[in-house]
Amino acid sequence: MTVLKVRTLPDPVLRQKAKKVANIDGSIQKLIDDMIDTMRAVHGVGLAAPQIGISLRIAVIEIPEKEVITLINPEIVRREGVRVVAEGCLSYPGYYGEIKRSEVVKVKAQNRQGKKVRLKGEELLAQALEHEIDHLNGILYVDHIEGHDRLWEVTPQGNQTLEHPII
Ligand code: NI
Repeated sequence: MTVLKVRTLPDPVLRQKAKKVANIDGSIQKLIDDMIDTMRAVHGVGLAAPQIGISLRIAVIEIPEKEVITLINPEIVRREGVRVVAEGCLSYPGYYGEIKRSEVVKVKAQNRQGKKVRLKGEELLAQALEHEIDHLNGILYVDHIEGHDRLWEVTPQGNQTLEHPII
């Protein structure tokens, strides 16, 4: 088990557009395992590779009570609806913000076996898919906040709930 350091703003790796993964080899499998270990250790709902300093298009998501999802080279193919949600980010600890996210998000990606997959997310999964794919493009949720009154300070990870996830 390897828990890696989670990068936080203003680390420039968080602002880079991550590169596509060409070969899903042993080093990528190890990276995915380390990302899952790290996500669980810090109690995140998801983690993108740039958050541990690796600028590659890989993300992991674990919704409570569900199986972990690994996404390689994910792309959003469809978004439906808009809802206002609260969320935090492991790379911007101590804050939550209120932003707009899609109600339904459809994604195509590869899984860790390299197989092409499509998945549809609603609610927290839709939110996590948008949040993680944003990370791969150098975007953080704070970039979506419309006004400083939509961002508030909290004890780091102290208030995490399904309504206020840290992603
Ligand atoms: Ni995040």
